[in-house]
Amino acid sequence: MTEPIHQAIRTAYEAVPYVGRPFHQTHPNRLLAVARLHGVPIPKLGTISVLEIGSGDGSNLLPMAAGAPHGRFVGVDLSARLTASARAMAEELRLNNVRLLEADVRDIPAKLGWFDVVIAHGFYSWVPPDVRDAMFGAISRHLAPGGVAYVAYNLLPGGWIRRIGWDAMQFHVRDVRDPAERVTRAREFISLMVESWRTQPGPGAALAENFAHEAERDDGGIFHDDLAPLNEPVYYSTFVAHAARHRLLAFADVDPSTRGLGPAGAALRERLAARDPVAREQMLDFVHLRQMRATLLVHANVGGAGRRDPRHVAELHFAASMPYMRHRLAGGAAADPVGDTLAAHFPASIPAARIVDALASRGVRADDAPARIVDAWVTGVADPYADALALSTRPSARPRAGAVARWQASRLPLVTNQRHVSVRLADDFARALLPLCDGTRTQAELLARVRAAVPAAEAADPKAAVERRLAQFASAALLDA
Ligand SMILES: C[S@@+](CC[C@H](N)C(=O)[O-])C[C@H]1O[C@@H](n2cnc3c(N)ncnc32)[C@H](O)[C@@H]1O
Repeated sequence: MTEPIHQAIRTAYEAVPYVGRPFHQTHPNRLLAVARLHGVPIPKLGTISVLEIGSGDGSNLLPMAAGAPHGRFVGVDLSARLTASARAMAEELRLNNVRLLEADVRDIPAKLGWFDVVIAHGFYSWVPPDVRDAMFGAISRHLAPGGVAYVAYNLLPGGWIRRIGWDAMQFHVRDVRDPAERVTRAREFISLMVESWRTQPGPGAALAENFAHEAERDDGGIFHDDLAPLNEPVYYSTFVAHAARHRLLAFADVDPSTRGLGPAGAALRERLAARDPVAREQMLDFVHLRQMRATLLVHANVGGAGRRDPRHVAELHFAASMPYMRHRLAGGAAADPVGDTLAAHFPASIPAARIVDALASRGVRADDAPARIVDAWVTGVADPYADALALSTRPSARPRAGAVARWQASRLPLVTNQRHVSVRLADDFARALLPLCDGTRTQAELLARVRAAVPAAEAADPKAAVERRLAQFASAALLDA
């Protein structure tokens, strides 16, 4: 019954490539910090083992592997095309701690063993029910007894909003067979729809906001998301019940919901207080019309996970989040002692103890500080990390960028930084310079190599042009410590 849809999914990924990207919240350094905040004992990052289900072209897994040479990384994906591209990247980067399997999650070999972390991003909502079930089966079998799994999925009720746009685009191209033509026509149509929705009140305005940037997506995004043969958001309570059938316990979301509850907040909180945690979260999804979740799970019989506990803050490191910094630079952020402290060290992380000291100098009692730091995470100001980020906030005498970013700079429009986020380099000059920053060259030697590529507008002072780009690399978290 599901085989034709399964075949359609396989064919789709061979027809139009899906260009992957790193998802910062899937990085073990990030998700294990959230697990620790919930009381889960966590393994050492240096020797971490990670399984990614639906690893695509390796854009998410390979930068993690490059950062942990003594770790073990396995990616599983059905697509021959995407697996081949991931293997080519791994080979060129000489990553010998990675295995990339072209396989169906329904047939993962048992001998793969256990992993500290299992990741499935952009998978659960895009596959038929038997594959969803096989995904949980694989997590249950391959997650080490104390391991943490991460599953991101499209969510109801917010997903109903996006469903309207997807249905409109799919209906519009229902008779078009050629994949490239489907993408072109769907892109054109959604931008017209958005223009029209924008002029309408109520639901039209909400749809316009939701799809405002849809037409700018790359072909793979439109083809495999908006036009996907299957894309099914689920209710949180349904997801949790499904996980429980595989003896997996959902205990947290890696990115907590940051929105407030508005003027009805106190009354809503009172109504929800007596509910069990799953019902409470489900009700909050109705309140917020949430569209996506990235849920962390552990083996139900192993346990260890409890409620969020600020006492664990002391073991972690924190950095200002990128969206917070954008907001702050645009002048939108209110004064906040945790935000101010982290912003002063951006993009690097600092240990919680240093934030506690900074708060003390502003009159915050040491007993209150951990809860203030947790709040900064919940409100999107701070990103927690299990370990310090190994990055430099200013260019060193011999600047060194990560190996993955150096490899990507001359091949792709975006590079992956040390916080596992995609960043766009400023210009061709930056793209010429970054690959040379391998820690062996002084700034003068770098200049000698790229002098011919200095933009005409900066020709009068080529040294300053190099310094400017190096400073941009540092603030974009591209330079190693
Ligand atoms: C929407 S893409 C997401 C890729 C990537 N994880 C991301 O979020 O960007 C879904 C991926 O799952 C893979 N896939 C689909 N069905 C699969 C199956 N039964 N077993 C393994 N991989 C599968 C596809 O080939 C594709 O690479």
